[in-house]
Amino acid sequence: MPPTSRKALAVVLAAGEGTRMKSDKAKVLHAVAGRSMLAHVLASVAAADVTDVAVVIGPGREDVRAEAQKLAPHSQVFVQADRLGTAHAVLAAGSAIGAGYDDLIVLFADTPLVTGETIRALRDALAAGAGVAALGFMAENPFGYGRLLQDDSSRLIAIREEKDASEAERAIRLCNAGLMAIDGHRALELLGRIEAQNAKGEYYLTDIVEIARGESLETRVVVATESEVLGVNDRIQLAQAEAVLQARLRRAAMMSGVTMIAPETVFLAHDTILGRDVLIEPHVVFGPGVAVGDGATIHAFSHLEGAQIGAMATVGPYARLRPGACVGEKAKIGNFVELKNAEIAPGAKVNHLSYVGDADIGANANIGAGTITCNYDGFFKYRTVIGANAFIGSNTALVAPVTIGEGAYVGSGSVVTKNVPADALAVARGRQMEKSGWANAFRAVQTARKEKARKQD
Ligand code: UD1
Ligand code: CA
Repeated sequence: MPPTSRKALAVVLAAGEGTRMKSDKAKVLHAVAGRSMLAHVLASVAAADVTDVAVVIGPGREDVRAEAQKLAPHSQVFVQADRLGTAHAVLAAGSAIGAGYDDLIVLFADTPLVTGETIRALRDALAAGAGVAALGFMAENPFGYGRLLQDDSSRLIAIREEKDASEAERAIRLCNAGLMAIDGHRALELLGRIEAQNAKGEYYLTDIVEIARGESLETRVVVATESEVLGVNDRIQLAQAEAVLQARLRRAAMMSGVTMIAPETVFLAHDTILGRDVLIEPHVVFGPGVAVGDGATIHAFSHLEGAQIGAMATVGPYARLRPGACVGEKAKIGNFVELKNAEIAPGAKVNHLSYVGDADIGANANIGAGTITCNYDGFFKYRTVIGANAFIGSNTALVAPVTIGEGAYVGSGSVVTKNVPADALAVARGRQMEKSGWANAFRAVQTARKEKARKQD
């Protein structure tokens, strides 16, 4: 039977206390590449066509429940009241498992880099006849992991936890990543037979291997790389997971036709979309929700989040694009420009030192250096609308709500509080005056005063 026609349930364990994170936030809610570790695991589960999900949380972890239900609204959440081990945690979802599945996949929410393909490989092992398939990896340093014990023909015979392993077993480098696929129709029965007879006095999920073998079920190992199964227990491992994922994301971007001059300095989010022939200069940070069109350039030291960039547009250097920034084709956003919730139509230019928030900028409009949309009065936000081909002089304050008509000009240094009709010129600043010879007279008076003061000393 091909895996897609097999019914599958993922049980995601997230009941760990995460003490070593030293955090007020649940461990699995800490983010990697812009989304929670739990979100990564749920995304991989979905990528492997596992449609049914049970998440096991610790008591009182309503924040984890909320995240699970936000990301996988159909998921069931179970509370593991006492933390008695991984098998005990899986059994907390016993009523879901009992609904009858071909494939039961157990995952750890603190192991966020596991891909959909790997979950698929575990499912394939079940489809090929295995009763249990464990995910293994060759550990650089196996200390602390369960070891995968194999017979002479590399069949999995048992998983031995560090604390229960003999000297010889501890020398084995093939370790248990913790993830496992179990024949869904046998799972409850096998799990129910696990006892807590070990050094830690916990119900070990890993004991299922020997129990399955006792039932003449086939047990297999699926091998992953060590970086893919990196478990996060502290902030150092969180940073390691981030590094692994960033490397993956950069690689995928470059493979799809993006140029990165210094990829190791570019930070992507899990959902960053970069078109063909996009050029990313060094030191650019992408928060979640950014899409960049073909041929666009993001110059150095820019920060983008929740922004859409049209084809052939240029952004930065030193630009900040906040959520709702939408930059049209061939538009130019220059240095020290901040955009928020602003629609910049194709060909428009905001080249220097401006804040454009809650605004619509028409096609080919030119927004001069230092233009500020005054969009907030401390209570409400208001919109600024600038028509196509309008020209806003440097250092203009646009006090919203305000509309500048198409093709209109605003004189530099204006504080615009009223709408400007199309094709008009608005100048809203103090009128210039001159006093001829004033400077000479002023200098003479001041020089004399200074001389007098010096003599008195
Ligand atoms: C587990 C494996 C070990 C493997 C290692 C990989 C077992 C018995 N051991 O050990 O073979 O090498 O992972 O990192 O499975 N959890 C609960 N409730 C519990 C206990 C655990 O939800 O009662 C969750 C934790 O949040 C964590 C995961 O299960 O996400 C693994 O638990 P942990 O205690 O970290 O297991 P290890 O001792 O690391
Ligand atoms: Ca662990």
